[in-house]
Amino acid sequence: MTQQRISIVGTGYVGLCTAIAFATKGYKTITSTHNPEKATSINKGIPTFYEPKLRESLQQVVRNGYLKCTLDRKEAVLNTAITFIATATPSKPNGSINLQHIRNSTREIAEALNKKDTYHLVVVKSTVVPGTTEKVVKPLLEKHSNKHCGSDFGLCMNPEFLREGSALHDALNPDRIIIGEHDKKSGDTLEALYRDFYGDKTPPTIRTNLPTAELIKYANNAFLATKISFINTIANICEKIPEADITIVAKGIGLDQRINPQFLNAGLGYGGSCLPKDVKALIAFSNQLGYTPAMLQEVQEVNENQPRHAVEKAKEKLTELKDKKIAILGLSFKPNTDDMREARSIPIINQLLNEGANITAYDPFATSNAKSIFGNKITYASSVVEALKNADCCIIVTEWQELKALKPEDFTQNMRKPILIDGRRIYNPEEFSQKLKFTAIGLGQ
Ligand code: UGA
Repeated sequence: MTQQRISIVGTGYVGLCTAIAFATKGYKTITSTHNPEKATSINKGIPTFYEPKLRESLQQVVRNGYLKCTLDRKEAVLNTAITFIATATPSKPNGSINLQHIRNSTREIAEALNKKDTYHLVVVKSTVVPGTTEKVVKPLLEKHSNKHCGSDFGLCMNPEFLREGSALHDALNPDRIIIGEHDKKSGDTLEALYRDFYGDKTPPTIRTNLPTAELIKYANNAFLATKISFINTIANICEKIPEADITIVAKGIGLDQRINPQFLNAGLGYGGSCLPKDVKALIAFSNQLGYTPAMLQEVQEVNENQPRHAVEKAKEKLTELKDKKIAILGLSFKPNTDDMREARSIPIINQLLNEGANITAYDPFATSNAKSIFGNKITYASSVVEALKNADCCIIVTEWQELKALKPEDFTQNMRKPILIDGRRIYNPEEFSQKLKFTAIGLGQ
């Protein structure tokens, strides 16, 4: 197959990482944004967010001419054969998704299609609730292009499953490909692209209709969130049982092949731009259909309560939090990213501040994003030692590799009171309990 030229609308995590993945494999790829600063930065090989190995890969594909970013969406569509829509679908106040970016990009793509005489495939990659591709994207494409979906242009929904922190690896090595197709030709065109892209390593591919593909994405994230809230529920039970340990319980059940060990790390709950938003959106969507998804509501509630455990533990150890110095290690919603969206550090720090505590926080990459959330309400340390100096208590919020390597002495030698709360279960309780006042999520005292 002659390599298709690809355009991608949106330069967020999914858009940029997908574009780099295509360009790395030798596809001429054009990303587009309306933000001139972003475009300049990408064209200089500088990503606008932190992601391991992204900068090196971006520099390489920009240098060798396989990837460029344009402000002109029409040019991107006219010069390529397939366009992926990877714009954000943020939450509205009621939890349902806001389709404004999808609508705007679709209209622009359609206006370009109006000027094109060859077949073009449009692929929705953004997370959208079932029905969106058929009922929102398709009519807009047909109206503004004055063309017919299925014959003049194709339409697919192809959800993305990459994780922040390992986005490029995930884009190059997916577990599966889901193709929701408007018609057979659209599905054939997208499947051919992926067969060319992955070659012998093409993962299992499911072809289905558009709403089923859209629902697979929500079901996937809702299931991951459910696993986390489930294990956190068992962790909370463990804490009431002397000597019970959630990490061993998780290992024990994870060895059952029907359960599997992944996403069974108990902690302070899930954050990020996807799991919280998608669970909320699926609940709102189901409610609109007249169905109350009680289990998903509970998953959400467990997650909202989970950060409180860290604060309660601090209170238990210090009696009161007023004027106490608390060191927070890790701010981002998970390691290997500077993303602070829905990070569990936010409710934890806000609650500690409400109780009158003084916070000094350290994160290897997220400090600058954290500053736009907490401003000068907290102190930002530039190293672990600086954060721990004279602290009365330390809470581990994000399991960065750098924090996993700490020894009990790093805490005892720097803190005023060596009280450590392991919110992500990264330390060996036996070793740490001998030298510190150690307490952890899911550990019976
Ligand atoms: C998630 C999904 O994992 C991806 O498959 C999906 O493509 C993406 O959302 C998306 O919809 O775009 P991501 O948000 O990057 O990816 O991060 P996850 O690795 O899923 O972690 C989410 C949260 O769950 C983090 O706060 C993490 O600390 C927490 N988590 C994860 C746990 O508390 N325990 C675990 O065992 C695993």
